[in-house]
Amino acid sequence: MERIIITGALGQIGTELTLKLREKYGEENVLPTDIKPPEDENLKGKPFEILDVRDQERMKELVSEFKPDTIMHMAALLSATAEKNPQFAWEINMGGLMNALETAREFDLKFFTPSSIGAFGPSTPKENTPQVTIQRPTTMYGVNKVAGELLCDYYHEKFGVDTRGVRFPGLISHVKEPGGGTTDYAVEIYFEALRSGRYTSFIGKSTNMDMMYMDDAIDAIIKLMEADPAQLTDRNAFNVSAMSINPEMVANEIRKHIPDFELDYDVDPVRQGIAESWPNAIDSTEAKRQWGFDPRYDLEKMTEVMLEAIRNK
Ligand SMILES: NC(=O)c1ccc[n+]([C@@H]2O[C@H](COP(=O)([O-])OP(=O)(O)OC[C@H]3O[C@@H](n4cnc5c(N)ncnc54)[C@H](O)[C@@H]3O)[C@@H](O)[C@H]2O)c1
Repeated sequence: MERIIITGALGQIGTELTLKLREKYGEENVLPTDIKPPEDENLKGKPFEILDVRDQERMKELVSEFKPDTIMHMAALLSATAEKNPQFAWEINMGGLMNALETAREFDLKFFTPSSIGAFGPSTPKENTPQVTIQRPTTMYGVNKVAGELLCDYYHEKFGVDTRGVRFPGLISHVKEPGGGTTDYAVEIYFEALRSGRYTSFIGKSTNMDMMYMDDAIDAIIKLMEADPAQLTDRNAFNVSAMSINPEMVANEIRKHIPDFELDYDVDPVRQGIAESWPNAIDSTEAKRQWGFDPRYDLEKMTEVMLEAIRNK
């Protein structure tokens, strides 16, 4: 991987991914794109192109000009947003993915796109969820993610496209706000802890979900993309997670730094329903074994760095 084009690059993941890839591969070798122009000071004034992923012609035009060897497809509507407008979610999530895969096939690009723990459903084993297991999600987002995993495998098997992916858990970061997912509480809680000393959670008290700090997520993408293909028995997509946590656990960790922090609840039935349909804790053994996934942040360390970074803003 030497020259990379990114779709949906202004999102929660894309923003930090762009910065890390530029640092590692050189600014001129990374082309972030999104449907809107950048507002982030770190991204302004640097190479950037507007791209609506539904526009296959424009995508191919950009690839033919920039000549990347890899496409990272991040543009999507997330779980809670997708549930509000399922037909539109299908159009963006499936239409955009198909265009990106077709572009990868035509221009012989390596391909990365993230799946999610949302690709699991109520009939999936909840604890230690295996890499290969029942996937019968009940959300439009989940339906898109399972179909996407299969489509990426199909493009690999049928057309030889080097597709790779992970099932991300909730990602926690302080650089860019999250984009409408069910795990967003775990980001908001840190900002509110410092802003007002209290937080009202839309997810119930003891609802466990998998999470990971953004630095570990970005490292995982790069590690997977640089892995020797001979090592990969699975491709789309690998379970990856660093912790299984609930709002009470995060609050208790925050109280080690802000002893008076208060947490109460106003549970949102839609997002709670989505959370309850997902696993409590997935098993990342195959990612560790096949390409060396090795997250460095647990809840304690992540809380320390989140609070410190937000305080410094
Ligand atoms: N953030 C998480 O916790 C998480 C967890 C699991 C999986 N994922 C997956 O990772 C990927 C990126 O997620 P994210 O959190 O960065 O999402 P995000 O919502 O923060 O960002 C998505 C980006 O896509 C852009 N976009 C929307 N419609 C577009 C279009 N038609 N054309 C081009 N760009 C468009 C948006 O402007 C936005 O910048 C998605 O596939 C998502 O499902 C994210």
